[in-house]
Amino acid sequence: MIALPEGRTATARLDALRAMHDAGCPHCTTATGHTQTVFGEGNPAARLVFVGEAPGETEDQLGRPFVGRAGQKLDEMIKAMGMSRADVYIANVLKSRPPDNRTPMPSEVERCAPYLAAQLRIIRPQVIVSLGGPATKFLLGVETGITKLRGQWASWTPPEEGGAAPIPVMPTYHPAYLLRNYTPKTRGEVWSDLKQVMDRLQRQG
Ligand code: URA
Repeated sequence: MIALPEGRTATARLDALRAMHDAGCPHCTTATGHTQTVFGEGNPAARLVFVGEAPGETEDQLGRPFVGRAGQKLDEMIKAMGMSRADVYIANVLKSRPPDNRTPMPSEVERCAPYLAAQLRIIRPQVIVSLGGPATKFLLGVETGITKLRGQWASWTPPEEGGAAPIPVMPTYHPAYLLRNYTPKTRGEVWSDLKQVMDRLQRQG
């Protein structure tokens, strides 16, 4: 578990964490093939955090998460929920682009994802949406496929000493998967997952 950096505000702590990550992440400081790291961005006080897999080509070029085609779909999903990117926080399991966009390897996740956990420990959102298999596997600590897990509330417990309250997680399909399988069924499933998230956020006020 990473010791969280000090700072008066969540913004300051996230900025310090980003510097710590870029200087010391055992995966990203040794990985090759990426141009720059993509830390994550959004509202440090977000009630809702989206977690994706890893930067793709456009993200690697621009240094920002979800700004390629999958990102446009995610933007539409956020808008359909009545929010904007400025309301939420968006991060990935891996902070550097895997060669040829391959799926992150367990050894890579093990070394980089503690920084995602630290981001979530700083933000402490009310709900996390895990987008696709790798994010869901990491947060839920399971090997079950996304098709079985999507649409059902689960939770992620921050690894704090002395215990911390679990944060509800809604697994759904990755927007890139949705784009590849743009059927009424898949679209309906994602929308139903997002509606559950909206209902929960509304109930929590
Ligand atoms: N896919 C992801 O999982 N993350 C990004 O940032 C972009 C595409």
